[in-house]
Amino acid sequence: MSNFVLNDYINRKVDKKMSLSERVKNLTPSSTLAISALASELKQQGHDVIGLGVGEPDFNTPDYIIEAAKKAMDEGKTKYTASGGIPELKQAIAKQIKVDNDLSYSTDEIIVTSGAKHGLYALFQTILNPEDEVIIPAPYWVSYPEQVKLAGGKPMIIETVEDNHFKITPEQLVAAVTDKTKAIVINSPSNPTGMVYSKEELEKIGEVCLKHNILIISDEIYEKLIYTNEKHVSIAQISDDLKAQTIVINGVSKTYAMTGWRIGFAAGPKEIIKAMTSHASQSTSNPTSIAQYGALAAYETESDSITEMNKAFSHRLELFYTLIKEIPGITCLKPKGAFYLFPNVKEAATRGGFATVDDWVSALLEEEKLAVVPGSGFGAPNNIRLSYAASEDLLKEAAKRIRRFVENHSS
Ligand SMILES: Cc1ncc(COP(=O)(O)O)c(C=O)c1O
Repeated sequence: MSNFVLNDYINRKVDKKMSLSERVKNLTPSSTLAISALASELKQQGHDVIGLGVGEPDFNTPDYIIEAAKKAMDEGKTKYTASGGIPELKQAIAKQIKVDNDLSYSTDEIIVTSGAKHGLYALFQTILNPEDEVIIPAPYWVSYPEQVKLAGGKPMIIETVEDNHFKITPEQLVAAVTDKTKAIVINSPSNPTGMVYSKEELEKIGEVCLKHNILIISDEIYEKLIYTNEKHVSIAQISDDLKAQTIVINGVSKTYAMTGWRIGFAAGPKEIIKAMTSHASQSTSNPTSIAQYGALAAYETESDSITEMNKAFSHRLELFYTLIKEIPGITCLKPKGAFYLFPNVKEAATRGGFATVDDWVSALLEEEKLAVVPGSGFGAPNNIRLSYAASEDLLKEAAKRIRRFVENHSS
């Protein structure tokens, strides 16, 4: 074999081995995780960086949850568990949903997952066939469209407007339905907008879904983080017919400051939950055993620490919203839940001579060492997402930096 032919052969072998799947090549990495990683890197290099990119409570997991996980380890509960989760945790979840939303699920209608994110991933893998369409109202949480694509489905993005508080209308939904429509994602309270759907709004959306036989994926991970006197409503609560067509996604990450533990759940029709459990049995095997015992303590214990965290978020919302909405060139709807502001900064960016809000965000990080997430990753290119899961002092300093940056760039 000549050297040329040999090299060609070796190169082809290497190329083939190293070439990535089309699935992964088309994947957009999570912009929120990327910003957080960049902010941490800059901090490690000694820069005075404030990171408002991260989507997690800044509080530590309450002690009684940590103790329960330690106890589980001491007792040797460190082995594989059932793929769908330990029975006592499923029972505790069923009880919690009953108390919170007056919904009754049996344990075979519940699967414990490795975080709500994995619950959604397993669900899309379970329900989607090639070309199936999933309606996703924008602004949306960054992972929905990517997970739909990973499952071979088609994300159908429907843009909502600020005037309607970023919520999809029944008319928009009807217009988006095709004979390929399989499901819609509803996320209330919403990441990134903090908006909350009312019962009446959900009833109307539900009517369209029933009429066109559309599955509803109801992501309720911020259910407990509402700062008005409105009560969270799950679309599954509205009627038995809607419950039969809805998969509720939720978990402990945000409510109990347990993002790193990776415990979430899905509740819905038996056939779907059973298929998701088979999928889990061949992918994760089971959610981490000791984290499940921690989550069990979270659901079974009444604690002031959760109320205290909520009070702190509510306070920070008032503070930060007041400071941000007063900055010239920035407008902001007042969120009702979750822990994000989602201001429109288009005017400030344009006045500053930036072609896009993404450019504005990069310059903000470079000049003011403030990391925020551009709205483009959420399907809203005029906005930015600011997490207020940070101390009041940091929020005041962040608002000061944004104001100074805007003032330095207004021609
Ligand atoms: C809307 C929404 N759904 C799901 C998740 C995933 O939560 P978990 O940490 O339980 O995977 C997040 C996390 O940021 C989220 O914002």
